Amino acid sequence: MTSKYARFLYQICKPTGEDGKLVTACKAHAELCRTAAGEGMVLLKNSNGVLPLKQGEKIALFGNSTIDYVKCGGGSGIVHSPYIRTVLDGFKIKEQEGKVSIFKPLSEYYANELKKVGREFMPHQDYALVDEIDIPDDLFRAAADFAETAVITVGRLSEEGTDHTVTKGDFLLSEKEEALIDRLCRSFKKVVVVLDMGIMIDSSWFVEREEISAVLLAWLAGMEGGLAIADILCGDVNPSGKLVDTLAKSFDDYPTTAGFNESEDYVDYTEDIYVGYRYFETIPEAYNRVNYPFGYGLSYTDFSFEGIHCADDGKFVTACVTVTNTGSVAGKEVVQVYCGAPQGLLGKPAKVLAAFKKTDLLKPGEAQTLALRIPISSLASYDDLGKIQKAAYVLEKGEYRFYIGSSVRDVIEARYRLVLEDNVITEQLETRCAPIALKKRMLSDGSFEELPLGENKTYNPQNPASTAKAPEEEFMFDKVGETVTLDEFIAQLTDEELVELQEGHDSTGIGDTGSIGGIKRLGVPYVTVSDGPAGLRTSRECGILPTAWPCETLIGCTWNTDIAERIGKAGALEVIENNLGVWLAPGMNIHRSPFCGRNFEYYSEDPLISGKMAAAEVKGIQSQGVAPSIKHFACNNKETNRSYSDSRVSERALREIYLKGFEICVKEAKPWLIMTSYNQINGEHTTAKYELLTGILRNEWGYEGATVSDWDTKAPHVKELLAGNDIKMPKGEKDSLRAALESGEICRADLENSAKRILELILNLAQV
Ligand code: BGC
Repeated sequence: MTSKYARFLYQICKPTGEDGKLVTACKAHAELCRTAAGEGMVLLKNSNGVLPLKQGEKIALFGNSTIDYVKCGGGSGIVHSPYIRTVLDGFKIKEQEGKVSIFKPLSEYYANELKKVGREFMPHQDYALVDEIDIPDDLFRAAADFAETAVITVGRLSEEGTDHTVTKGDFLLSEKEEALIDRLCRSFKKVVVVLDMGIMIDSSWFVEREEISAVLLAWLAGMEGGLAIADILCGDVNPSGKLVDTLAKSFDDYPTTAGFNESEDYVDYTEDIYVGYRYFETIPEAYNRVNYPFGYGLSYTDFSFEGIHCADDGKFVTACVTVTNTGSVAGKEVVQVYCGAPQGLLGKPAKVLAAFKKTDLLKPGEAQTLALRIPISSLASYDDLGKIQKAAYVLEKGEYRFYIGSSVRDVIEARYRLVLEDNVITEQLETRCAPIALKKRMLSDGSFEELPLGENKTYNPQNPASTAKAPEEEFMFDKVGETVTLDEFIAQLTDEELVELQEGHDSTGIGDTGSIGGIKRLGVPYVTVSDGPAGLRTSRECGILPTAWPCETLIGCTWNTDIAERIGKAGALEVIENNLGVWLAPGMNIHRSPFCGRNFEYYSEDPLISGKMAAAEVKGIQSQGVAPSIKHFACNNKETNRSYSDSRVSERALREIYLKGFEICVKEAKPWLIMTSYNQINGEHTTAKYELLTGILRNEWGYEGATVSDWDTKAPHVKELLAGNDIKMPKGEKDSLRAALESGEICRADLENSAKRILELILNLAQV
């Protein structure tokens, strides 16, 4: 009889596709990749309708990244895909279809010059880009004589472990890029810029310059990205991506910039809940410091919002609106509902995203009526200082206004208002993870209030001892759920076996990040885990080259949870087909600052977008019997000194902003695994923070899955175990666990509790 765990134990070859076909990087996944990329790229500028390009338009393609196309980020964001469709590839297809005519000598020149510096096409993106190559005068003139339109692709790499800086070639244009763009602006009638990057680069240069006619923020769009860019520029796809972050006028305008590099040891989250648009929409002096607001994105068609109607039933506010495509091409629109809560005693952002939905593809003249439901309790604020009621979520009395539209600034206020005569406590919690060193925080008028400083408490968790008895006859793991219970199985494990379960092991398959589980004697398989989030990261040498999906920020910009779920499902099929069990995805930290080097692995500055998108992706992944690992729990918003950096944050901001997305995902999708982060929160490593992992995650949110540390976290293993972190990766500190067991610092029940969660995860995994 075939073993239930044959995939993990024997690394069998069994495709997961219909009709027994392999799905890894298959055509259907490539198509999904291209569709998603086309839905998440954001058209920022389109003066005089220069886009889409006209039928047969003559174009000259500039910029190294036209060929040296950045499809993904580095670190856990790398995917060794079978190919990358570059921007040049995309336009070559359009040329074959008669849609454009490319000035070939220029593209050939780029290809040759890039080859000379070792930058010829490679499917593996773990190397640094080179600065723009110089274009000889005669070639440049010939390009300008041939083409009316220059399309320049500007690329940037991002990678975990490094933050972005306000330097030329990073957040700012390099001198060569600047010179090339100047030259294009002088010589071409139309200049179209494609931003091939996972960062919110400085935008002032293209906002201010009239000669730059159009700008597409294409993000890191995966292995089909170049095709999706050409689809949009040629009008085969009508852009419908909307920003999930605010693009400020200058990097200095973000309230997080001043303190970002103040210290390598800590970051003070003094802006509190006023992150991203919550800051720019609320603080009067900040309002005009925005180039592109949250939710913004252009289309090739127009939409009207009519019949706005809101009503409530005491639990939910339902907002209805009819969206009509009033233009001449088919397109999709995103309906965004914002709520403005009364300022009250706690102070609130002027607007907070309360619900969103994307329309179907509407033909010209076609209309769709959407109804968006908002739980009234989700409009409450957390009172950490007891201005109304300490440690409670409160709906303050007063008027709640609702705004419906297509960006945070392009909205219509509904006539309806939710009016509360009295304050309503929606949830009474306990003070947890309060600051111990953050001295002040911003209020809604831009001033600051002082914060009382507390201390971290010590906890002595009492995990209940199991009453299960091991059956007399030894039995194997695959009998769990059939003839014996998991508790009975655990009862027959030795202490040493329990200790071994708490740590990672070497990979037994094609993933390059290790494995979990593994008790050979009793048939518990080693389950190999793999990064995430942009696809399945395999060892390059193994020759399996999976789909490289668009980065999380692009997925966020689709505002389409269905796309996120489909990517989750498709990615998971590739994971299981390759005999892996855990996909370390999706990343979902908040874009607190544009400088965080890992923003591309995260969705948004907004917790609702992050939570909903992650929940959809998790549902897709788990539907295939693969464990996701949402990460990094929490406040991993800076990469410099990430193993020690202390995120000093108020409890309110923590709960309303940095934990909220995780909370939504945990409650809606029940993920089987959560990865804790490297950093500290208020003076304690997250891996060893009992209040976070047990107090909030398990006791408040009811999380029943397992937790895994990020790779090589710095807190002692014993503390991590006691706090509620189940697995230490890539290796644990077994000697210290053994010693703690002996001294009574930990007991068998502590090990059993974690073991149960880890084994439950393995039982959930799809088998042969
Ligand atoms: C990253 C994680 C990743 C892990 C395993 C760490 O450096 O922070 O996101 O999943 O490595 O590769």
